[in-house]
Amino acid sequence: MKILSIETSCDETAISIVDCSGELKSPQFKLIASSLISQINLHKEYGGVFPTLAKREHATNLPIILKKVMQDSSQYNEGDQNFFAGNKSQIELVLSKEIGLFNNLEKQFSTITRPDVDHIAVTVGPGLAPALWVGISFARALSLIWNIPLVPVNHMEGHITSVLMNRDSKNNIVFPALAVLISGGHTEIVSIPNWGTYNVIGATLDDAVGEAFDKSARMMGLPYPGGPEISRLATYANTHNIPKKATLPRPMLHSKDLNFSFSGLKTAVLYYIRDHFNADNSSMTELDKADLAREIEASIIDVLIYKTKKALEETMSQTLIVAGGVIASTTIRSAFMALKKDYEYLDIRVPSTELSTDNSTMIACAGYITILTKGKDFDYNSFTAEGNLKLK
Ligand code: KG4
Ligand code: ZN
Repeated sequence: MKILSIETSCDETAISIVDCSGELKSPQFKLIASSLISQINLHKEYGGVFPTLAKREHATNLPIILKKVMQDSSQYNEGDQNFFAGNKSQIELVLSKEIGLFNNLEKQFSTITRPDVDHIAVTVGPGLAPALWVGISFARALSLIWNIPLVPVNHMEGHITSVLMNRDSKNNIVFPALAVLISGGHTEIVSIPNWGTYNVIGATLDDAVGEAFDKSARMMGLPYPGGPEISRLATYANTHNIPKKATLPRPMLHSKDLNFSFSGLKTAVLYYIRDHFNADNSSMTELDKADLAREIEASIIDVLIYKTKKALEETMSQTLIVAGGVIASTTIRSAFMALKKDYEYLDIRVPSTELSTDNSTMIACAGYITILTKGKDFDYNSFTAEGNLKLK
């Protein structure tokens, strides 16, 4: 079965076509085509994602990358060019939620070649509601035009299933599994008794890990997104053995539960800069920044690994999945892989670096798992943006 997947939950606009096959115990995925436009450079000047801008950019970018994906999968005919010309006004029509306009679109685009896909999977949450709406409206319009059924996808299930991509025949996850999700908006420990059932057994009480990186980086005068910057500086500090000066707390390390809190870490970074550099990051040298970045990363790793071990033991999980943008950090990735030393039986899975941050390929994987676990019949009218959608 071929799935066309759409992701617009934050600041990446992405579409993929993935060939999905196999049963739940060993699902197989083969990427046919994929295209992604990142808005990071546009949001940099705001120091974070600016929702109205994200919405406008998604609307502009979706038709462009759809065309690219159709071309790359050899499904684009020159006769289709009318569809892609003058995107803006057409997308404005799509975004208008009046059903009359959808009908209008249907008539207008009835000549477009229907791609060889069986389902359209779209992220419905969690994320920024205005951004999610663009992807959902676009998916609904394509579904009407091409008469292709829609599948709703939870973005966090997307991160979990990102580890299923790029694998050969041995894609059988042994359950119970544990997922540790570390992204810009979420920090969650999820117990997974089987595909399609997700019990969140630990979560951050305030900031997510990625958010702690991004906010700390901002205080140090580093550009958005801060995660890759902190990780780059921390690696520099580690590989060049620069003297260790900064010390930060390990928040909630000894709390009895599996929850996290990272807002205190952010405050500790603020106080450290205030007390040692007169609150002025411009007086910090690159070495000072690298030293602090290393300590921020070390604090986060200590807490994440401690709680992960506790969760592994409590749930007796056989597989550990670690996913979300923050696992793009090589040091954090190595810290999780090193758990193999203490838990020899454990199958530890992380996505490739490019599938760690937001992408649409993982949305196709989650769409397929959703079809296998929940069926194919979703009410077209139930497709709404759910900014706070939970895993369950
Ligand atoms: O999963 P993701 O792409 O988007 C959300 O769903 O939130 O995660 C984005 C987060 C950002 O906070 C970013 O700073 C962080 O992932 N991030 C990293 C790295 N690359 C992205 N954090 C640490 N090291 C990286 N290399
Ligand atoms: Zn994400």
